[in-house]
Amino acid sequence: MEKISIAIDGPASSGKSTVAKILASEFGFIYVDTGAMYRAITFLAIKHGVSFSDEESLADLTTHYPITFKQSSHGQLVFADNEEITQTIRQPDVTAAVSEVSAHSKVREELVEAQRQLAKSGGIVMDGRDIGTVVLPKAEVKIFLVASVDERAKRRYKENQEKGIKIDFESIREAIAKRDYLDSHREVSPLVQAMDAELVDTTGMSIEQVVAKIKDIVSSKG
Ligand code: C5P
Repeated sequence: MEKISIAIDGPASSGKSTVAKILASEFGFIYVDTGAMYRAITFLAIKHGVSFSDEESLADLTTHYPITFKQSSHGQLVFADNEEITQTIRQPDVTAAVSEVSAHSKVREELVEAQRQLAKSGGIVMDGRDIGTVVLPKAEVKIFLVASVDERAKRRYKENQEKGIKIDFESIREAIAKRDYLDSHREVSPLVQAMDAELVDTTGMSIEQVVAKIKDIVSSKG
């Protein structure tokens, strides 16, 4: 497999990370979860008492505390500030604040640069909101993954139950709809389908079907 770049964007809980991980493992590519990076900065802001509106201090956090990923038998682990934060960054307090933190252009500049560094040798599957539009505009394959709010809320509810995170369905649905709104209406790098991205609506599709569909798209580009 040629070392191409695959950009997968889409709204919250559209299944991006699940399919991106499978594709990366099948192709022998690196997987980068850019949402985890914005979540890590949000976690650091909470830990160090930095206000979510303080753009300068939030940007300082990104330069002072590099975010690193490590592969383990339990999947990809996330580290920052000498802590393993893989699960902590999925907690509701981080999820509720991440869209506010990620809307700051100085925070994005730092993280986009780090993301481009990770992708510079190719052979990458990167998921997020602005990968096809801003981070890797020359990616060989761009996918825009969507699904109805209800379907995404159902998936997230099930995932949370499996991880022991207790939130009721309606709160999850509301949080997803709010994040969709904030991520698509911010001034800097809003969530939007790149002109040359393929739209894949995963409503009613299994993970296997979505993976197969994207592999077809990848083959059609090669
Ligand atoms: O992908 P995930 O839902 O974990 O992303 C968390 C949040 O990080 C998003 O709701 C969005 O605010 C932000 N994000 C972003 N740009 C990216 C990836 C995530 O703004 N490339």
